[in-house]
Amino acid sequence: MRLLVCGGAGFIGSTFVRQRLLEHGDTVIVLDKLTYAGREENFHDVASDERFRFVRGAIEDPDAVASTLDGGIDAIVNFAAETHVDRSIAEPDAFVRTHALGTYVLLEAARERELRYVQVSTDEVYGSIDVGTFTEDSALRPSSPYSATKTGADLLVQSYFHTYGLRATIVRGSNNYGPYQYPEKLIPLMVLNALHGDALPVYGDGMQVRNWIHCTDFAHAIGHVLAHGDPGEVYNAGGPDEQANIDVVRRIVTLTGASEDQIEHVSDRPGHDRRYSLSSDKVCALGWTPRVRFEDGLAETVAWYRDNAWWWEPIRSGEYRAYYERQYGRALS
Ligand code: NAD
Ligand code: DAU
Repeated sequence: MRLLVCGGAGFIGSTFVRQRLLEHGDTVIVLDKLTYAGREENFHDVASDERFRFVRGAIEDPDAVASTLDGGIDAIVNFAAETHVDRSIAEPDAFVRTHALGTYVLLEAARERELRYVQVSTDEVYGSIDVGTFTEDSALRPSSPYSATKTGADLLVQSYFHTYGLRATIVRGSNNYGPYQYPEKLIPLMVLNALHGDALPVYGDGMQVRNWIHCTDFAHAIGHVLAHGDPGEVYNAGGPDEQANIDVVRRIVTLTGASEDQIEHVSDRPGHDRRYSLSSDKVCALGWTPRVRFEDGLAETVAWYRDNAWWWEPIRSGEYRAYYERQYGRALS
């Protein structure tokens, strides 16, 4: 297959690119704006593959999108997004631009060329659930500017199926973790702070629950939907394990040999969703299943960060320090 992978220089996108090149022998063009979260380092092991090409550009730029489609593409898979809820609360504008305008530009390009289209989405479109699990038919009740704009993008994708017959599908994932995740997100932030002796900032009481999925499992689910999903359908892909944040942090303390004294309860995130939980029966019926249990995946992830300082050192010594000070009101060590 010949794929255009938008946002492929990020955490999950680069995992997907690696799988498509190495496991499927696909030809892959990545279109990515390289925001703070997108990094060419994420392709270090596949960049020399002759079936791989990287183009720096924004999905909201129709010329940049057209330039990647000229050579013939079978499908667009869209990972491109602003992905951090805290940043969406502080500065929502980029979220609106990328999720609304960017998705529209990609959909138009796919419509003109009659391409297959896969939108990568999130369980956050359903909002919070105290008990039970969300199915694909659950109401959409997003809480943050991040999830509201992701929901808007999903609705636009569905409208292109209903109105124009675009062969589009949506995959909604739960909280991902694994190598190459930017350390603004809970797990890599806590791992790196634990290894450096910095404080471990837990929002509120830390009893918020997330449904963790390893990034390789989620990337495989997206590939599975690309191959076997029905146009117009939504597929949830949730992980096998749910964990309260405070338990995740305590596990990281144990795995890194840090001290529980480093844990600090800080002000809660405004509008913080209490619990996410996805039913994945529909995508499992297509033959996908998550393979990595959280206990094993977390230990491997901690080991990866411990062994790959080349990847995170430039982040921790760069602009990220200013972000961290703004967000947490204290400096990193
Ligand atoms: P990430 O922040 O690591 O990567 C996002 C990538 O998109 C970056 O490479 C960035 O440069 C690129 N990008 C941002 N705006 C762009 C634009 N306008 N044009 C082109 N490229 C742009 O994100 P991630 O965690 O890998 O998430 C990828 C996708 O998966 C997102 O759509 C996200 O909503 C979804 N998702 C993430 C999770 C999770 O837990 N991380 C869970 C479910 C769904
Ligand atoms: O559920 C899928 C979503 O998961 C994706 O769509 C988002 O792109 C992704 O960022 C993630 O959103 P969360 O807000 O759940 O992830 P985050 O890693 O920011 O936070 C996870 C939980 O940990 C959440 O309850 C907030 C809490 N937290 C986070 C940080 C960064 C803390 O307690 N302290 C922190 O410093």
